[in-house]
Amino acid sequence: MHGRGLPTWVMAAFFGVAAAFFMDQGAARAAASALSEPDQQCLACHATEGLVKKLPNGETLSLHVAGPAFAASVHNPMGCASCHAEVTLQNHPPVKQKIASTREYSIARTEACRQCHDDIFKLYGGSIHASLLREGNPVAPICTDCHAPHAIQPKAREVMAEVSCRKCHDAVFGAYAASVHGRARSKPGNTHVPLCADCHRAHDVTAATAGDTVKNACLGCHPATVASHQVWLPNAARHLETISCPACHVPGAKRRVDLRMYDSVAQTRISEKQGVPQFDSRARFADAKGTGLDALALQSLLREFSRDGAVGKATLRGRLEVSDGVVAHQLSDKYMASRNCDSCHRVGADPFQSVTVSIAGPDGRPLRYDADKDVLHSAISVESMGGFYAIGGTRIKLLDWLFVLALLSGIGVPIGHLTLTWLFRRYAKKIGGREDS
Ligand code: HEC
Ligand code: HEC
Ligand code: HEC
Ligand code: HEC
Ligand code: HEC
Ligand code: HEC
Ligand code: HEC
Ligand code: HEC
Ligand code: HEC
Repeated sequence: MHGRGLPTWVMAAFFGVAAAFFMDQGAARAAASALSEPDQQCLACHATEGLVKKLPNGETLSLHVAGPAFAASVHNPMGCASCHAEVTLQNHPPVKQKIASTREYSIARTEACRQCHDDIFKLYGGSIHASLLREGNPVAPICTDCHAPHAIQPKAREVMAEVSCRKCHDAVFGAYAASVHGRARSKPGNTHVPLCADCHRAHDVTAATAGDTVKNACLGCHPATVASHQVWLPNAARHLETISCPACHVPGAKRRVDLRMYDSVAQTRISEKQGVPQFDSRARFADAKGTGLDALALQSLLREFSRDGAVGKATLRGRLEVSDGVVAHQLSDKYMASRNCDSCHRVGADPFQSVTVSIAGPDGRPLRYDADKDVLHSAISVESMGGFYAIGGTRIKLLDWLFVLALLSGIGVPIGHLTLTWLFRRYAKKIGGREDS
């Protein structure tokens, strides 16, 4: 017998290997938060606070890099050289290449990110922020406006108060912070509650009112929305298509109807021709009195756009929305939401007092022009307004009556409701074919 335990040499060998193994792990972990030798050499100068370079345009470029923050960042293992290959201990200081401005320097340096994050560049390239950058907008955000390049933390879901969007969209942040989401998100651990990028995306940010990005984000987290609204709102899907979520969920917000121009055949929004702005001048021309487009002026504007050699005719689609994009963020608890049919389905209801006509601008943001509220009732524009009731106008008289009925039958619920549903169906049939035609 060799005794109870394993032979001593086996034990020794085991612990030897284990010790080496654990030491390796420890060393690796220490190394991960420590700085490599070459990086320490760079920081020997650049960790100095107040180290700056004066630029020819009078700006001051800070040359300070905080060592500990960089050591704790995701990019530490790659070292300074991975993003600053052109700068070495041999070739600088001084720096030979010219730096015209801090902005130009930042834009040029973000090219370094592309080597490893090409996928993100592709997303970013299609964003409204990137199109602003291409237009030369001096405050269009680039990678380093949202990610401090020397302090990027691993998988840090953003802390609300420090969200990068805030420095440029502070008014929106204020409205968001007071909303049902903002109040919930400010509590620790609530990272399932949306912050800016959860509704707008982080890199492929598009114009807020273009396409369905934002609405799809809402529905992604609130998948039962259509069903839960259908309980009290007839044809909820139709309502949700025509009315933006904030139009009901921001109590007291001023609302309007935006009549968007569509190509009747391609079913896409008509957009401004690149480099040849036409919308504003055409609208001004049509609106000779300068009081807002009336029905005749609107008709002639539509004719102009129909003539452009587009595939189809220019038609209109109405959208009921909050007039101010900042206010649209003040989403409130559900019991504050408007559910009163009368607040919309009544002659002179407030959302229908303010009307704009729009096409999509070059970066997706709408170009708008004011219209007279009476265009909603005019026979001329109703003709081109497939898919939108001219509430309070002639066509809606029947619908208005149905609401009186709805109110009267409020008590005799089931039968009343069935009758109403039937009436609505008949009504819908009567004006049938209007849907997206
Ligand atoms: C001896 C001190 C010193 C050391 C060591 C040093 N730098 Fe610099 N660095 C400077 C000074 C001074 C400037 C400003 C030069 C000028 O005015 O043109 C500068 C400028 C820079 C700039 C801005 C200009 C540009 O072309 O991008 C970067 C980036 C930079 N250094 C990175 C590094 C890196 C990376 C290392 C390590 C490889 C390093 N530095 C090592 C002193 C130093
Ligand atoms: C992940 C890429 C990346 C790494 C790694 C990196 N930098 Fe930078 N660095 C940048 C970018 C991008 C800029 C442009 C700054 C901006 O846009 O604010 C920059 C700017 C600088 C500047 C100019 C002053 C300033 O802050 O704008 C210095 C100096 C500098 N870096 C030094 C260093 C040193 C030293 C290291 C290593 C300890 C390092 N960098 C590591 C990306 C990086
Ligand atoms: C307008 C602000 C903004 C700009 C500009 C921006 N980012 Fe981001 N980025 C974010 C936010 C916010 C997140 C976190 C995403 C999340 O939480 O869903 C993020 C996440 C990331 C991630 C982590 C992977 C991921 O997709 O979650 C990488 C890598 C990244 N960004 C790189 C870049 C690069 C490279 C650029 C420049 C092309 C860039 N970012 C430009 C805001 C921005
Ligand atoms: C040499 C390659 C390389 C370069 C250059 C580089 N990165 Fe990274 N980056 C990485 C790696 C590797 C990770 C870690 C990926 C992971 O953990 O999944 C990373 C992670 C990130 C993250 C995500 C942090 C997280 O986990 O949430 C962001 C944001 C980021 N990088 C931004 C940038 C920006 C901005 C630049 C340019 C200033 C840049 N990177 C340049 C390789 C690089
Ligand atoms: C719950 C989803 C949601 C969150 C979170 C959110 N937004 Fe919005 N955002 C919207 C909606 C909805 C609109 C208006 C769209 C419309 O009128 O149809 C909008 C519009 C905007 C606009 C256009 C404003 C204008 O004047 O027209 C900007 C800019 C914007 N958001 C930025 C942000 C920023 C920055 C944050 C974070 C502080 C944020 N959003 C958070 C949903 C959200
Ligand atoms: C460096 C400044 C800057 C940062 C940071 C920034 N933006 Fe923007 N953003 C702009 C500018 C400038 C515009 C053009 C419209 C404007 O002036 O509001 C814009 C436009 C937008 C729009 C379209 C507005 C519309 O009218 O439809 C949205 C949505 C948006 N940003 C969301 C975000 C989100 C989300 C973040 C953070 C992840 C963010 N932005 C960070 C500067 C910035
Ligand atoms: C016509 C007005 C109206 C519109 C448009 C509207 N809502 Fe509502 N919503 C309400 C009312 C009223 C309630 C409260 C219903 C209740 O108390 O049961 C509500 C409740 C909710 C709730 C809480 C109940 C639930 O379903 O979990 C969510 C979430 C919600 N809405 C999301 C949305 C989203 C997302 C949109 C846009 C796609 C939207 N709403 C559009 C009026 C509206
Ligand atoms: C990332 C997921 C997410 C997105 C995107 C999102 N929400 Fe929410 N929403 C939540 C969560 C989680 C809550 C519950 C917050 C709390 O704890 O009070 C909530 C609460 C609400 C409420 C209050 C419900 C109640 O019971 O009172 C409304 C209304 C609402 N959201 C509407 C919207 C609208 C409209 C959008 C799009 C513009 C949207 N949400 C986008 C996750 C999301
Ligand atoms: C925020 C304003 C608003 C509120 C509140 C509202 N509606 Fe509507 N409703 C509209 C608009 C706008 C349309 C036109 C939709 C379209 O044609 O695209 C519409 C259309 C309708 C239609 C015709 C839908 C169809 O089948 O095509 C009926 C029926 C209707 N509403 C009933 C109601 C009832 C009942 C309520 C209250 C429970 C109500 N609505 C609350 C704005 C509203």
